[in-house]
Amino acid sequence: MKAEDLKVLVVGSGGREHALVWKLSKSKRISHLYAAPGNPGMKGLAQLVPISTKDTYMLAEWAKHEEIDLTVVGPEQPLVDGMVDEFEARRLAIIGPTKRAAQLEGSKAFAKEFMRRNNIPTASFQIFTDTSEALDFVREANYPLVIKADGLAAGKGVVVVDSVAEAEEKINQFLYEGKLGEAGKRIVVEEFLNGEEVSVIALSDGRHVKTLIPAIDHKRLLDGDRGPNTGGMGACAPAFSLIRERQLPVIEEEILERTIWGMWREGIPYKGFLYAGLMLTERGPKVLEFNCRLGDPEAQAILPLLKTDLMHIFEALLDGELDVINPDWEEKHCACVVLASEGYPENPHTGREISGLNGLEGVLPFFAGVAEKGERYYTAGGRVVGLTAVDADFDKALNKAYAAAEKVNFEGKQYRHDIGYRLTAKTRVAR
Ligand code: AMP
Ligand code: GLY
Repeated sequence: MKAEDLKVLVVGSGGREHALVWKLSKSKRISHLYAAPGNPGMKGLAQLVPISTKDTYMLAEWAKHEEIDLTVVGPEQPLVDGMVDEFEARRLAIIGPTKRAAQLEGSKAFAKEFMRRNNIPTASFQIFTDTSEALDFVREANYPLVIKADGLAAGKGVVVVDSVAEAEEKINQFLYEGKLGEAGKRIVVEEFLNGEEVSVIALSDGRHVKTLIPAIDHKRLLDGDRGPNTGGMGACAPAFSLIRERQLPVIEEEILERTIWGMWREGIPYKGFLYAGLMLTERGPKVLEFNCRLGDPEAQAILPLLKTDLMHIFEALLDGELDVINPDWEEKHCACVVLASEGYPENPHTGREISGLNGLEGVLPFFAGVAEKGERYYTAGGRVVGLTAVDADFDKALNKAYAAAEKVNFEGKQYRHDIGYRLTAKTRVAR
């Protein structure tokens, strides 16, 4: 890759991609930054390219024509659909796993069988495609149990069930009635794990692993971890206070490295971000899920703390030399509070005017579902904006994010008031 004046494209339009664009915009090595399709918050940082993330062919052709030096893919769907393969076929550099490697997220059955083969700690499980076999199994099982659709289901594919009746209902919906389409034609039924949940994301060049700082997400919609699962209502990093010292090497060696080496050995080298959703159980850390990308909103809480030029890390990844990189982190805390639309996650109401987004001080407003008309902003999705703040003191970072959450307004705004609660008590004790 040329030494400088690089042209870089970020694919996606959410808060995670806004954070990626924000971080890459600080790189001295990049002369032109593009986002496809991007969002209005990225204006001024990147040139927006009106091509949908679904249009893999058009994006690859555009990148070839514009001589883009590097593309970074934010969301999972284009990765699972093979965007990396399409770019690599044109000899275009890209950060992300191939279609086959992205099965670690795209097929929960693939991921579970891979983990079993490679002795990677995870909940015990069974896979079913046949309704009556699945029903026989859950009638004899211990509860609670977790039922997961095999494919991507936009957060609707995982349910925790407390009784045989509930399990039967879900199995019928997924396998028999086909409620989730293809994604639910195969299911994983697995053991329920108790413990603290953390997100540990690493980068890999196929052989080496670089772990980013751990983060926490808040998946449920309502305070106190109640209500439906969402894409994530807020995130904080680092989450070291949740992880016991002896658990870190287990996470790195028995989970992340074993996964990367296993994929290598099986002839499906994994490059890009690898997100391990973990449960820290009494019997050690176990994998709940793999994602083939950065988390959203975890990225918003992790990237502001990264001191190293992200482009420098990406170049080492492309050269297969991630082992020589030592990312430098701010010794600070970052908190991201997500404002969501009324009706999110089932049926978000959009088109409502947003006030207070301009002139926020001391916070990074990472846009997600925001549309711009003239000088005005309107809600355009379930998650609207992630208000993100950094401070040496965790409580102060949270307070800044919450002060902004009160200032930014739109009809039906909803957000959690307890982001970081799992860290605050422990971080206070640790200080
Ligand atoms: P997943 O998409 O597989 O991460 O599942 C979504 C959420 O369901 C996770 O973030 C956990 O909170 C919960 N979950 C998934 N699998 C389990 C499990 N085996 N035990 C307990 N909770 C789980
Ligand atoms: N925040 C969870 C995810 O990105 O999947």
